Amino acid sequence: MNNFIFENSTKAIFGKGCVKEYLACLLSHYGETVMLAYGGGSIKRNGIYSEIMAVLEKAGKTVVEFSGIMANPTYVKVLDGAKLAKESNVSLILGVGGGSVMDCCKAISLAAKYDGDIWDDFWVQPGVIDFEPLPLGVIVTAAGTGSEMNGGAVITNEELKIKTGRDYPKCNPKFALLDPIYTYSVPKKQMVSGAFDTLSHIMETYFAKPDESNVSDDISEALMKNVILNIRAAIRNPEDYTARSNLMWDATMAENRIIKLGKQTDFECHQMEHQLGAYTNCNHGEGLAVLHPIYYRHIYKYGLTKFKQFAIHIWNIDPTGKSDDEIALEGIEALADFIKEIGMPSKFREIGIDTDTDLKAIAYSCNIVPTAYKKMTHEEIFEIFKECF
Ligand code: NZQ
Ligand code: ZN
Repeated sequence: MNNFIFENSTKAIFGKGCVKEYLACLLSHYGETVMLAYGGGSIKRNGIYSEIMAVLEKAGKTVVEFSGIMANPTYVKVLDGAKLAKESNVSLILGVGGGSVMDCCKAISLAAKYDGDIWDDFWVQPGVIDFEPLPLGVIVTAAGTGSEMNGGAVITNEELKIKTGRDYPKCNPKFALLDPIYTYSVPKKQMVSGAFDTLSHIMETYFAKPDESNVSDDISEALMKNVILNIRAAIRNPEDYTARSNLMWDATMAENRIIKLGKQTDFECHQMEHQLGAYTNCNHGEGLAVLHPIYYRHIYKYGLTKFKQFAIHIWNIDPTGKSDDEIALEGIEALADFIKEIGMPSKFREIGIDTDTDLKAIAYSCNIVPTAYKKMTHEEIFEIFKECF
């Protein structure tokens, strides 16, 4: 394993009823004014909003609402939120939602305490955060991104057509409340998309060096099997608590830095999806589902040991009498079949990307990850995009 330093400052509180039980106590560490940030209104329809408001009122907090955080949150929205937080003298941001709300709130927490331009100083390139962002607590309502237990925030600059993420430990939420029951109302399409995003995070971490035995890859294998099993169970019964609770914690585990310890990572598929998102506003998990099998057919020869292991350990491919290439390719086919089985798209057309889209411009705007098994070129990304039709 490679050397590492591990730290994760988020207090995660998990389980049925955790908001009612612990939110008041958590709030007591912060001042009077809380900014309640959320998305397009699902929390009002499913009762989560009233449950949280009751706790805030009982705790005597002044609540400033910031709503309308969209999927693929924009930099403009971040600036709006920061302005409101500053004007209202907010002492805690409470983000209630999925990855988009959590990411937007992390960026707001920085922008509210910074006089310069956070996009230029912290997103265009990595910056040094030598100040304390506004404290942020999150209540997860849609599992998938794992944003609740890391400092990552993916923001879209619509003007520049760039969607990019950075992970700053100072942006880790102070606390994350995870009640699996809150995810019951997530529509099936989004539930599957979130769970596939989790699977993608694990694969993007697993498919990189080292290839020797290491505990991070072993944990990743256990997580991948768990996600696959529980996506199927949650599709069969959306109110299967065991399935929803496993998927929720799988998502957190995939992105709380633990499975990355001692390893390099890939995440080229994420780079490609982020730029597709910047140009087309496609759904994150769905974009990843289209890209993964095609990308893996391009790179498997460069990570043959791991792709073979993936086929045998995750998809139970029988290796008898087969070459390493055959085994690896059967594993990738099993992944592609699973994507179809769970109702996810396999082609760009299915996610609203048509032949008029300037794929070349998107391909050439993607970041290239140097630690992937095979370092992509922009031309090869363009080839992959064309194969996605
Ligand atoms: O906006 P509302 O009305 O709340 O509806 C949301 C939204 O339409 C809905 N939803 C959430 N909880 C619900 C619910 N509907 C019913 N019941 C509930 N309990 O779900 C829809 C999608 O929400 P969103 O937050 O956009 O989805 P997701 O969690 O997949 O987040 C996607 C964003 O996270 C970024 C993605 O790029 C994308 O911008 N990512 C963040 C990462 C990180 N910070 O570590 C890593 C990821 O790789 C990813 O890039
Ligand atoms: Zn993702």
